[in-house]
Amino acid sequence: MHICRLQLSILHLSSIQLTNFRNYTEQNVSFCGGLNILSGLNGAGKTNLLEAINYLCLTKGYFHSGDIGAINFKKEFFRLQGEFITERKIETISLAFQSGTPKILKHDEIIYEKLADHIGKFPLVVIAPDDIALIIEGSEDRRKWLDNTISQVNRLYLDDLMQYNRVLAQRNALLKLWSAGQSRDEDLMTVIDKQLVKIGKQIHAERKKSLQILISLLQKHYAFISNENETALMNYDSLLNESDFSKTLITNREKDMMLQRTTAGVHRDDLDFLLNEFSIKKFGSQGQKKSFLIALKLAQFDFIAQNKNETPLLLLDDIFDKLDQHRSEKLLADATSKNRGQVFITCTDWKQTIISDKLSKYFIVENGLIK
Ligand SMILES: Nc1ncnc2c1ncn2[C@@H]1O[C@H](COP(=O)(O)OP(=O)(O)O)[C@@H](O)[C@H]1O
Ligand SMILES: [Mg+2]
Repeated sequence: MHICRLQLSILHLSSIQLTNFRNYTEQNVSFCGGLNILSGLNGAGKTNLLEAINYLCLTKGYFHSGDIGAINFKKEFFRLQGEFITERKIETISLAFQSGTPKILKHDEIIYEKLADHIGKFPLVVIAPDDIALIIEGSEDRRKWLDNTISQVNRLYLDDLMQYNRVLAQRNALLKLWSAGQSRDEDLMTVIDKQLVKIGKQIHAERKKSLQILISLLQKHYAFISNENETALMNYDSLLNESDFSKTLITNREKDMMLQRTTAGVHRDDLDFLLNEFSIKKFGSQGQKKSFLIALKLAQFDFIAQNKNETPLLLLDDIFDKLDQHRSEKLLADATSKNRGQVFITCTDWKQTIISDKLSKYFIVENGLIK
């Protein structure tokens, strides 16, 4: 008999322990592998719990930057521990942080030498109200989103990014010295340029390749969510698409020295989000922007799932507050469809989430306590 196998294996967080993390002092929670619904008043600690999950998967916060703020106001350190169930086994991740010392991250009691080694092992995608910044703010948010997406499936890409940033910092430091009047070491600059070009080209190629897949996924999800006949698109806007990066760096040397920074390279790349070829930032309605954003995140989810053969965790923060009913229902329908794995939803009224026959578990969050 032919045995039908599920295509994707499902990653799931079975339990988490929070110690002195934001408004939690000591908390243990067990989750189900399907839908986990956390309801509670504003300020109860729902987003803080999602933040803790983001820490365990990606070693840092999603909603806030900086680790010091994540320590409970009255304490000196925080610690998080999660038990993840992967295809075959249970894996324990713990993360501890104390101000003034590096974060300590352990995988089954083994301490990571580099936090970056952890990225991609427990993939996740977050959809939150402030994500609208991806559309309306500057290019940095869009680069971060793309980098986060590719890094979760490609460790070499993350290495390249870190290496690129190191070389870029060296180049900028040298430009500063030159601009302060130090005699110019053109040979050193040429060596730095060469490194920047090599890594920059690798990053560009990987972004280009990944975007081809992400675009088709984006279009599929946008069509589903919006029910409209518009075509969603994102164009990769990079100097490296057409120009010779190496020559540009040489041509720009004088200008860069005056500005004391490197003005061309993949650190300036951007994504143009378009609907029917019009900029969504300039011409899109609120609703179109929200649909685009959700489609983008679901594309991210599928991209990671396909590449890793495993469903990422999906964290949906406050979707009912910021989305109209039509869109939240569409999102919920999509998020709970059979090709998703474990989902976390926060809301102020759990009744909004009674939707599917997917295995669900309900939690009430109250003042840093979860019941
Ligand atoms: N480091 C911290 N220590 C103690 N409480 C904190 C800390 N950081 C944030 N909080 C508190 O957490 C609450 C916000 O929690 P949050 O998870 O954002 O709420 P919500 O349930 O609305 O998502 C606020 O009351 C805030 O004061
Ligand atoms: Mg919140």
